[in-house]
Amino acid sequence: MSKLRSRLWFNNPDNREMTALYLERYLNYGLTREELQGNKPIIAIAQTGSDLSPCNRHHIELAKRVRDGIISAGGVPLEVPVHPIQETGKRPTASLDRNLAYLSLSETLNGYPLDGVVLMIGCDKTTPALLMAAATVNIPAIALSVGPMLNGWFKGTRTGSGTIVWKAREMHAAGEIDDAGFMEIVASSTPSVGYCNTMGTATTMNSLAEALGMQLPGAAAIPAPYRQRGQISYETGQRIVQMVHDDLKPSDIMTRDAFENAVVVNSAIGGSTNAPIHLNAIARHLGVPLDNDDWQDIGHKVPLLVNLQPAGKYLGEDYYHAGGVPAVIGQLLAAGMLPYPDALTANGKTMQDNCGGHTSELPDVILPIDAPMLKDAGFLNLKGNLFDSAIMKTSVISPEFRKRYLSNPDDPEAFEGRAIVFDGPEDYHLKIDDEALEIDEDCILIMRGVGPIGYPGAAEVVNMRPPSYLLKRDIHTLPCIGDGRQSGTSGSPSILNASPEAAVGGGLALVATGDRLRIDLGKGTADMLVDEETLAKRRAALPPHPFTPDSETPWQEIFRDRVGPLSEGMTLRGADAYRGTAQKGVARDNH
Ligand code: FES
Ligand code: MG
Repeated sequence: MSKLRSRLWFNNPDNREMTALYLERYLNYGLTREELQGNKPIIAIAQTGSDLSPCNRHHIELAKRVRDGIISAGGVPLEVPVHPIQETGKRPTASLDRNLAYLSLSETLNGYPLDGVVLMIGCDKTTPALLMAAATVNIPAIALSVGPMLNGWFKGTRTGSGTIVWKAREMHAAGEIDDAGFMEIVASSTPSVGYCNTMGTATTMNSLAEALGMQLPGAAAIPAPYRQRGQISYETGQRIVQMVHDDLKPSDIMTRDAFENAVVVNSAIGGSTNAPIHLNAIARHLGVPLDNDDWQDIGHKVPLLVNLQPAGKYLGEDYYHAGGVPAVIGQLLAAGMLPYPDALTANGKTMQDNCGGHTSELPDVILPIDAPMLKDAGFLNLKGNLFDSAIMKTSVISPEFRKRYLSNPDDPEAFEGRAIVFDGPEDYHLKIDDEALEIDEDCILIMRGVGPIGYPGAAEVVNMRPPSYLLKRDIHTLPCIGDGRQSGTSGSPSILNASPEAAVGGGLALVATGDRLRIDLGKGTADMLVDEETLAKRRAALPPHPFTPDSETPWQEIFRDRVGPLSEGMTLRGADAYRGTAQKGVARDNH
């Protein structure tokens, strides 16, 4: 008898009655008994594209090529809808839905007759949601990026999706463009199907899915409309069938070694500050230890090689033509900087096999390792009385910022400032241009109440621009701290993902406008210089559920009830106890 898991539905000699019941409904749209009862693996195509999800919508087309590949290799494709997660469309934030899509897909993969899955990844949270589900259920899985959009252009310069919004916002506030100009320049940055063409969270997470070994080599960077995108879709479909026959599972690929490789690659590409949240979450669901100290220890001293916006100048098409992820990993391998060259990947080969010898085809886009954009490009994991853990992406510190805050000859890595506290983005929008606050370059902007429980979902609202009166004086960045997240497409050097969040009484709940703050990047600390007694008084005055507006939907309430801090991946408490559900057998019959 076939060893395929799906045959426990479709060909179970111990239960002819149920076999008939399972079988007839999948025969009824034209599948045959040969397909369902022989030795053909049944492969889910976990479809994240829809009209609601423009970033991933091209997957509707790519799925056709995936199907062709699956069939050519002797499998049976079943396309399965995934709960939509559109970064720019979903209120209050798409990240609220990451865990919902995860839950829903893990239930689907576990409870239906499926032997393997193609994870159709792309827009920011789709990648972690699908990898988390594959981790929990642990049936053979391979990821397929939808690919980045073509480069955006406006008047002869590249306009990067997401990044241009933050830039245009400053131009608008400074009076350089009007409303129509604002729309025009922003729309220029999204010229085709695909996900954000910048090194935002999408390009980051798709690159890391490849660095983890979960995609075919080279699959991440191919622009969505290119012919190679259709071709790799076909090859991905072919490959998953063989992975099922070989029983090559997510837990075989996404090991601690693979995560360490991915952390290093994240620094080399200048990846988003959302990466630690999502990778920590995926690792948790596999039982692999990974925390923000690892990100600093393993990732901080890695050079930045990829010259993409927001840290650099180029966009997705350039990344592809320069060689994409294999060129980055190839250079890390040659320099002995990829910690685990022997890590196994989805094609059955190692990172060394796949990427050894690859080098940059465009050295201005993917720089040589001995002449990088920056030497130490990874994240710092800051700690202090403001929070137990917060991530700072040092690769986006501008020369302007460095000069103003990090050039004290006695103490070049530390700065102090006066706190200006905003309780959520509405408060910030209301007050940022209010001259009565007297915000100047000595200020540190704080956004609180925007974490997993506070928002809920931890929104990307921490990228705060300076007041317009400072922009007009050519001051473009102030230090920002928040218990929420920041768009990966934003280039400001903020201190993000502060955990625990204000809503559970973390340090940010206690800070007040006017407090003196001290940030020391050398020591890795961030503190309010406020005495213990004052802090104790402020703590005692907090209401029972501070910074937590009412839930608006049932899911928000369930999410708030179960969610962990950003530093631990914002996963649902208890969910990570369910690992390898497919290896534990199949669920009871339904009739
Ligand atoms: Fe979907 Fe950037 S908003 S990829
Ligand atoms: Mg975003």
